[in-house]
Amino acid sequence: MRLLGLTTCVAVAGLVACKPRPADPLVAELQGALPERVEATGTVHEIDLRAAPAELALLDGRRLAVWAYNGQVPGPTIRVRVGDLLRVRFTNALPQPTTIHWHGIRLPNGMDGVPGVTQPPIAPGESFVYQFTPRDPGTFWFHPHLRGSEQVERGLFGLLIVEDRSPPPYSKELIWVLDDWLVGADGQIDPRFNTRHDLMHDGRWGNAITVNGVRRPAFDLRPGERVRLRMVNVANGRVFRPGLPPGSTLIAFDGLYLREPIPASGLELAPGNRADVDLTADAASSSEVLVRDEYTRRRDELAALRITGEPVSTPSFASPARAHVPRWEGALAREPTLTYRLNARAGGPFGIEWTLNDVASRPEDGHAHHAEERLAAARWAKIRFVNESARLHPMHLHGQFFKVIARGGRAVEEGFWRDTVLVQPKETVDVGLVPVDRGRWMLHCHIQEHAESGMMSLIRVD
Ligand code: C2O
Ligand code: CU
Repeated sequence: MRLLGLTTCVAVAGLVACKPRPADPLVAELQGALPERVEATGTVHEIDLRAAPAELALLDGRRLAVWAYNGQVPGPTIRVRVGDLLRVRFTNALPQPTTIHWHGIRLPNGMDGVPGVTQPPIAPGESFVYQFTPRDPGTFWFHPHLRGSEQVERGLFGLLIVEDRSPPPYSKELIWVLDDWLVGADGQIDPRFNTRHDLMHDGRWGNAITVNGVRRPAFDLRPGERVRLRMVNVANGRVFRPGLPPGSTLIAFDGLYLREPIPASGLELAPGNRADVDLTADAASSSEVLVRDEYTRRRDELAALRITGEPVSTPSFASPARAHVPRWEGALAREPTLTYRLNARAGGPFGIEWTLNDVASRPEDGHAHHAEERLAAARWAKIRFVNESARLHPMHLHGQFFKVIARGGRAVEEGFWRDTVLVQPKETVDVGLVPVDRGRWMLHCHIQEHAESGMMSLIRVD
């Protein structure tokens, strides 16, 4: 990236004098990690996307009334290459206003899909064109940013996969969209959203866990196949910890490649998180590997890997996890640039509201007024989250990637970037970042019910 702001200018007697500011070693260490610009490939993808009610065979195969992008849940997987131009002509055929947010994508602020901030809400029957050129290869997703607790729960989400310029030669790619649904006695989505129970706890946790919209799907692999498994957690509130076969390695998190691969055991996906895993189907035996969710004691079944058929030779190539990820060793000692206290109180339209520094945002169908803080572009910043509550808060920042610096005041080196970090009850988490893109970016809890009841704010980068 170009290092901006490396000069300090002072006006003396009508003359402006600039001298180089001593470079911040933490900013210098970013060099090459998050490009400000990408070389355009010239390829343009034109995609029509329509959100509308639909009836689909989901869960155990019964008819489920959902809201869907292009009549499917999960929505269509949009696949482009880094540097391609993506143009999405979106039409809202829902009975309420909506927008689309491109979770994790670094893009021009006006394309970020935040109602009342970067665009007006898209009314029923109206259209909007989203257009941007992804700069980072990886696994991203899109979803509404208005009444998310209802619209995401009803089925509005899809993957945006940004391929590398030359993708690593995996034998196969698998996509797992992890979700849960709260289904009533009638077999349909429980239409009571933002209940007191959801608000007092970690949002709406469903009673039907699905992968790609169905219960415990099975995926066939041939012995020896090397797989890139792309996972995303689109649930309103549930955290997943998929127990993957031994030997699986994490190669990317929240889209971006790691500095080096690490074992995928214990891998946790909070709402919003993505994880890319490199795994090889055991060449020795035909077998079935059941992947269970290890986050709760229930050990729910997520999906099965069925190793079957003629063996293939395993492609041998270096792990793509070899990104430059700064270590930011001097970061622990620095004072926070911004501090957010996370808490709740009685009040607001749902009876309970979630707050950031005692302020609750009221979305009011997209004509929102949010509190706003500022960060300087191209300067290193530390954001501190102080969870004063006894609930979980996966805190998500739009348009930027950050690194966890400390938990409870103790240094943490994860070796990867994030756009969403799970803050545990009563925990304090420090993250470091160098904002690159200017604009007004949302910071919010990705538990839909917490965000909906106030836990949203803005950071203006300028
Ligand atoms: Cu995926 Cu503002 O969120
Ligand atoms: Cu929360």
